[in-house]
Amino acid sequence: MKLFVANWKMHKTRADARAFAEELGREIGAGLGDAELAIAPPFTALAEAGDPSGRWSLAGQNVAAEPDGAFTGEVSATMLVDAGCRYAIVGHSERRRLFAEDGPILSRKLARCREAGLTPIYCVGETAEERDAGLTAVTLVRQLDALDGDPAALPLVVAYEPVWAIGTGRSATAEDSGNACVHIAEILSDRRALRILYGGSVTPANASDLLAARRTDGFLIGGASLSAVSFAAIARA
Ligand code: PGA
Repeated sequence: MKLFVANWKMHKTRADARAFAEELGREIGAGLGDAELAIAPPFTALAEAGDPSGRWSLAGQNVAAEPDGAFTGEVSATMLVDAGCRYAIVGHSERRRLFAEDGPILSRKLARCREAGLTPIYCVGETAEERDAGLTAVTLVRQLDALDGDPAALPLVVAYEPVWAIGTGRSATAEDSGNACVHIAEILSDRRALRILYGGSVTPANASDLLAARRTDGFLIGGASLSAVSFAAIARA
Protein backbone atom coordinates (compact mmCIF):
# COMPACT_ATOMS: atom_id res chain seq x y z
CA MET A 1 0.00 0.00 0.00
CA LYS A 2 1.37 3.43 -0.95
CA LEU A 3 1.99 5.75 2.00
CA PHE A 4 1.56 9.52 1.97
CA VAL A 5 2.84 11.43 4.97
CA ALA A 6 2.06 15.10 5.62
CA ASN A 7 4.90 16.84 7.44
CA TRP A 8 3.50 20.13 8.69
CA LYS A 9 6.78 21.20 10.31
CA MET A 10 6.22 24.22 12.58
CA HIS A 11 2.87 25.19 11.09
CA LYS A 12 -0.74 25.15 12.31
CA THR A 13 -2.44 25.84 15.60
CA ARG A 14 -4.93 23.41 17.09
CA ALA A 15 -7.80 25.25 15.38
CA ASP A 16 -5.97 25.04 12.03
CA ALA A 17 -5.42 21.32 12.55
CA ARG A 18 -9.09 20.75 13.37
CA ALA A 19 -10.14 22.60 10.20
CA PHE A 20 -7.64 20.59 8.14
CA ALA A 21 -8.91 17.29 9.55
CA GLU A 22 -12.51 18.20 8.73
CA GLU A 23 -11.58 19.21 5.21
CA LEU A 24 -9.45 16.13 4.61
CA GLY A 25 -12.35 13.99 5.82
CA ARG A 26 -14.62 15.63 3.23
CA GLU A 27 -11.97 15.23 0.52
CA ILE A 28 -11.39 11.52 0.98
CA GLY A 29 -14.88 10.42 2.05
CA ALA A 30 -14.76 6.80 3.18
CA GLY A 31 -11.00 6.67 2.55
CA LEU A 32 -8.73 6.19 -0.42
CA GLY A 33 -8.65 2.41 -0.54
CA ASP A 34 -5.18 1.73 -1.85
CA ALA A 35 -3.42 4.69 -0.23
CA GLU A 36 -2.43 4.99 3.41
CA LEU A 37 -2.32 8.52 4.84
CA ALA A 38 -0.50 9.86 7.89
CA ILE A 39 -0.17 13.35 9.33
CA ALA A 40 2.83 14.63 11.28
CA PRO A 41 1.54 17.77 12.98
CA PRO A 42 3.32 19.75 15.67
CA PHE A 43 3.06 17.88 19.00
CA THR A 44 0.57 20.46 20.29
CA ALA A 45 -1.94 19.61 17.54
CA LEU A 46 -1.73 15.80 17.55
CA ALA A 47 -5.15 15.39 19.12
CA GLU A 48 -6.84 17.74 16.65
CA ALA A 49 -5.12 16.30 13.58
CA GLY A 50 -6.24 12.74 14.27
CA ASP A 51 -9.17 10.96 12.67
CA PRO A 52 -11.55 9.16 15.06
CA SER A 53 -12.62 6.89 12.20
CA GLY A 54 -9.04 5.89 11.40
CA ARG A 55 -8.78 6.97 7.75
CA TRP A 56 -5.36 8.37 8.50
CA SER A 57 -2.84 7.86 11.25
CA LEU A 58 -0.53 10.21 13.14
CA ALA A 59 3.22 10.60 13.18
CA GLY A 60 5.57 12.52 15.45
CA GLN A 61 7.87 14.92 13.60
CA ASN A 62 10.65 14.02 15.99
CA VAL A 63 11.23 11.81 19.02
CA ALA A 64 13.59 11.92 21.98
CA ALA A 65 16.73 9.78 22.00
CA GLU A 66 16.14 8.97 25.68
CA PRO A 67 13.23 6.97 27.11
CA ASP A 68 12.37 9.50 29.84
CA GLY A 69 13.96 11.74 32.45
CA ALA A 70 15.31 15.26 32.85
CA PHE A 71 15.35 16.33 29.18
CA THR A 72 13.53 19.64 29.08
CA GLY A 73 11.63 20.16 25.86
CA GLU A 74 11.84 16.58 24.62
CA VAL A 75 8.93 14.26 23.77
CA SER A 76 9.44 10.53 24.22
CA ALA A 77 8.41 7.66 21.96
CA THR A 78 6.06 6.39 24.67
CA MET A 79 4.40 9.81 24.82
CA LEU A 80 3.94 9.77 21.05
CA VAL A 81 2.24 6.38 21.21
CA ASP A 82 0.11 7.66 24.08
CA ALA A 83 -0.89 10.65 21.89
CA GLY A 84 -2.04 8.31 19.14
CA CYS A 85 1.00 8.09 16.87
CA ARG A 86 1.83 5.07 14.75
CA TYR A 87 4.94 6.60 13.16
CA ALA A 88 7.76 8.97 14.05
CA ILE A 89 9.94 10.88 11.61
CA VAL A 90 13.60 10.33 12.50
CA GLY A 91 16.52 12.21 10.99
CA HIS A 92 14.71 14.76 8.87
CA SER A 93 17.36 16.91 7.17
CA GLU A 94 16.20 19.95 9.15
CA ARG A 95 16.91 18.03 12.36
CA ARG A 96 20.28 16.91 11.04
CA ARG A 97 21.29 20.35 9.82
CA LEU A 98 19.68 22.80 12.26
CA PHE A 99 19.75 20.67 15.41
CA ALA A 100 23.00 18.76 14.81
CA GLU A 101 21.43 15.30 14.89
CA ASP A 102 23.92 12.73 13.66
CA GLY A 103 24.14 8.97 13.26
CA PRO A 104 24.67 7.99 16.93
CA ILE A 105 21.76 10.17 18.11
CA LEU A 106 19.53 8.89 15.33
CA SER A 107 20.34 5.25 16.19
CA ARG A 108 19.16 5.92 19.72
CA LYS A 109 15.99 7.55 18.43
CA LEU A 110 15.33 4.51 16.25
CA ALA A 111 15.79 2.23 19.24
CA ARG A 112 13.34 4.30 21.33
CA CYS A 113 10.78 4.04 18.51
CA ARG A 114 11.08 0.27 18.48
CA GLU A 115 10.78 -0.06 22.27
CA ALA A 116 7.56 1.92 22.15
CA GLY A 117 6.16 0.17 19.06
CA LEU A 118 6.43 3.16 16.70
CA THR A 119 7.41 2.61 13.09
CA PRO A 120 10.20 5.03 12.18
CA ILE A 121 10.12 7.11 9.02
CA TYR A 122 13.87 7.42 8.66
CA CYS A 123 15.00 10.26 6.38
CA VAL A 124 18.11 10.31 4.24
CA GLY A 125 19.30 12.47 1.39
CA GLU A 126 22.30 14.28 0.01
CA THR A 127 22.98 18.02 -0.01
CA ALA A 128 23.54 19.92 -3.26
CA GLU A 129 27.30 19.94 -2.55
CA GLU A 130 27.38 16.18 -2.02
CA ARG A 131 25.40 15.67 -5.20
CA ASP A 132 27.67 17.94 -7.23
CA ALA A 133 30.70 16.10 -5.88
CA GLY A 134 29.23 12.76 -6.97
CA LEU A 135 28.76 11.71 -3.34
CA THR A 136 25.04 10.84 -3.38
CA ALA A 137 25.58 7.09 -3.09
CA VAL A 138 28.17 7.25 -0.28
CA THR A 139 26.04 9.76 1.60
CA LEU A 140 23.07 7.39 1.53
CA VAL A 141 25.23 4.48 2.70
CA ARG A 142 26.62 6.56 5.57
CA GLN A 143 23.20 7.80 6.67
CA LEU A 144 21.68 4.32 6.47
CA ASP A 145 24.40 3.08 8.86
CA ALA A 146 22.24 4.35 11.71
CA LEU A 147 19.84 1.49 10.92
CA ASP A 148 22.48 -1.17 11.63
CA GLY A 149 21.02 -2.14 15.00
CA ASP A 150 17.40 -1.86 13.88
CA PRO A 151 15.65 -5.26 13.63
CA ALA A 152 15.29 -6.27 9.97
CA ALA A 153 12.05 -8.10 10.63
CA LEU A 154 10.14 -4.99 11.71
CA PRO A 155 8.34 -2.73 9.25
CA LEU A 156 10.42 0.28 8.27
CA VAL A 157 9.79 3.40 6.22
CA VAL A 158 12.74 5.23 4.68
CA ALA A 159 12.23 8.63 3.07
CA TYR A 160 14.65 9.69 0.37
CA GLU A 161 14.72 13.47 0.61
CA PRO A 162 17.48 15.21 -1.33
CA VAL A 163 18.19 18.31 0.75
CA TRP A 164 18.33 20.54 -2.31
CA ALA A 165 14.77 19.55 -3.21
CA ILE A 166 13.19 20.28 0.17
CA GLY A 167 11.10 23.42 0.16
CA THR A 168 12.80 24.73 -2.97
CA GLY A 169 10.11 24.05 -5.56
CA ARG A 170 12.71 22.01 -7.41
CA SER A 171 11.89 18.32 -7.03
CA ALA A 172 14.17 15.53 -8.16
CA THR A 173 13.41 14.01 -11.54
CA ALA A 174 11.59 10.69 -11.43
CA GLU A 175 14.72 9.12 -12.85
CA ASP A 176 17.00 10.48 -10.10
CA SER A 177 14.58 9.73 -7.28
CA GLY A 178 13.94 6.24 -8.67
CA ASN A 179 17.67 5.53 -8.86
CA ALA A 180 18.17 6.65 -5.26
CA CYS A 181 15.21 4.59 -4.03
CA VAL A 182 16.55 1.50 -5.81
CA HIS A 183 19.96 2.10 -4.24
CA ILE A 184 18.37 2.38 -0.78
CA ALA A 185 16.44 -0.85 -1.39
CA GLU A 186 19.68 -2.61 -2.34
CA ILE A 187 21.49 -1.40 0.77
CA LEU A 188 18.55 -2.52 2.91
CA SER A 189 17.92 -5.77 1.04
CA ASP A 190 17.69 -7.73 4.31
CA ARG A 191 14.60 -5.79 5.42
CA ARG A 192 11.36 -7.76 5.35
CA ALA A 193 8.87 -4.89 5.18
CA LEU A 194 10.42 -1.78 3.71
CA ARG A 195 8.60 1.12 2.12
CA ILE A 196 10.63 3.86 0.47
CA LEU A 197 9.15 7.32 0.13
CA TYR A 198 10.37 10.24 -1.92
CA GLY A 199 10.23 13.75 -0.43
CA GLY A 200 11.16 17.19 -1.72
CA SER A 201 8.81 19.66 -3.43
CA VAL A 202 6.12 17.09 -4.19
CA THR A 203 2.97 18.80 -5.50
CA PRO A 204 -0.27 17.63 -7.10
CA ALA A 205 1.30 18.54 -10.45
CA ASN A 206 4.39 16.30 -10.21
CA ALA A 207 2.97 13.54 -7.96
CA SER A 208 1.96 10.96 -10.56
CA ASP A 209 5.27 11.29 -12.36
CA LEU A 210 7.32 10.89 -9.17
CA LEU A 211 5.13 8.06 -7.90
CA ALA A 212 5.82 6.13 -11.08
CA ALA A 213 9.56 6.23 -10.31
CA ARG A 214 11.29 2.95 -9.56
CA ARG A 215 10.83 1.45 -6.09
CA THR A 216 8.79 4.43 -4.84
CA ASP A 217 6.11 3.57 -2.28
CA GLY A 218 4.78 7.04 -1.53
CA PHE A 219 5.79 10.51 -0.44
CA LEU A 220 6.80 12.62 2.53
CA ILE A 221 5.22 15.98 1.80
CA GLY A 222 5.95 19.33 3.40
CA GLY A 223 4.59 22.53 1.86
CA ALA A 224 1.92 20.90 -0.28
CA SER A 225 0.57 19.00 2.73
CA LEU A 226 -0.53 22.18 4.49
CA SER A 227 -3.68 22.22 2.35
CA ALA A 228 -6.05 19.28 2.74
CA VAL A 229 -7.10 19.68 -0.88
CA SER A 230 -3.58 19.39 -2.27
CA PHE A 231 -2.57 16.64 0.19
CA ALA A 232 -5.60 14.60 -0.93
CA ALA A 233 -4.86 15.37 -4.59
CA ILE A 234 -1.31 14.04 -4.17
CA ALA A 235 -2.56 10.89 -2.47
CA ARG A 236 -5.00 10.30 -5.33
CA ALA A 237 -2.05 10.27 -7.75
P1 PGA B 1 8.64 20.00 0.92
O1 PGA B 1 9.20 19.33 2.25
O2 PGA B 1 7.56 19.09 0.38
O3 PGA B 1 8.07 21.32 1.36
O4 PGA B 1 9.76 20.13 -0.03
C1 PGA B 1 9.41 17.95 2.32
C2 PGA B 1 9.94 17.59 3.69
O5 PGA B 1 10.71 18.37 4.26
O6 PGA B 1 9.61 16.52 4.24
